Amino acid sequence: MKQILGTAALTASLLAGTAIAAADSLTLYCSADEAWCQLMARGFEEETGIKVDMTRKSSGETFAQVKAEAANPKGDVWWGGTGDPHLQAAEENLTAEYLSPMRDELNDWAIRQAESAGNRTIGIYSGALGFGYNKDLLEKAGLPAPACWKDLTKPEYKGQVQMANPNSSGTAYTTLATMVQLFGEEDGFQFMKDLHKNINQYTKSGSAPIKAAGLGENMIGIVFMHDAVAQAASGFPIVTVAPCEGTGYEIGSMSIIADARNPESAQTFYDWALTADVQSRAKDVNSFQVPSNTAAVQSPMAPDLSEIKLIDYDFKKYGSSDERKRLLQKWDEEVSNLPQ
Ligand code: F6P
Repeated sequence: MKQILGTAALTASLLAGTAIAAADSLTLYCSADEAWCQLMARGFEEETGIKVDMTRKSSGETFAQVKAEAANPKGDVWWGGTGDPHLQAAEENLTAEYLSPMRDELNDWAIRQAESAGNRTIGIYSGALGFGYNKDLLEKAGLPAPACWKDLTKPEYKGQVQMANPNSSGTAYTTLATMVQLFGEEDGFQFMKDLHKNINQYTKSGSAPIKAAGLGENMIGIVFMHDAVAQAASGFPIVTVAPCEGTGYEIGSMSIIADARNPESAQTFYDWALTADVQSRAKDVNSFQVPSNTAAVQSPMAPDLSEIKLIDYDFKKYGSSDERKRLLQKWDEEVSNLPQ
């Protein structure tokens, strides 16, 4: 009840603000799935009258854009995408501190993310990394079902595995950082090198490999498990796997860009995006992450994180500027250049 009143009061105050600020606009950089980005942009526009100009780009790409524009920022809010580059942006003062009145309604992990970045970012959803495969293609090729990360390096899957490039994609950076944490740095990089032999393509966007698998253009995609579930929910023959060794996860995040041109619209969007009502809409566009608002309604199809063996992902370390730069450079030099 408290939740319903809280959301109603916020919506009323948002609408009251609309009358005065009808000409306001918001430039939104979005790093979640395109359909969810559209839903957020159009929903906010309809409910507040604030015009939204939205661009969808992957997490690493958006980080690079925000950094490149730092002297003359064009974006107001960066919504969605893995938390690591949001943390790096906070450390590099590319994003602004903000304490939303909605914080009391959020899970601890969303607040921890904020606190570790001097409140320059906040958690909006979480989800576990894993992989998915097209079971029709697998059967046709007569291959066994992969169940573990190490299975993906077996020679029988040569040319059958796809993942994104960790420079552009937060999903792929989470994969790299997960392997380093799960197996140790040396063995983690050895895993990435062994995996490289089986990779048919490094895509720009994190969810592309499983979308390709859904269409029958690729067999196995390393992705967040919710993105594999989304393909199955759309009727494609995709099986989602929680790898046997355990896995990493993301805290999808949101940040206000430093020296934004529309700071008031940015804060209004930020508060709105943290409401239970708005977060509950994710499932309507097959986005099956765990919402950060404790009262948001999750789809029954969403992977249950309590049943997945999760590592104690060190967000502070792997979201730090030095570590993210170092790991990406090492991957560029030691993995991506290797012959296949
Ligand atoms: O498709 C949704 C999603 O997996 C989010 O959960 C995640 O934050 C984002 O995409 C990462 O996208 P990318 O890997 O392209 O940066």
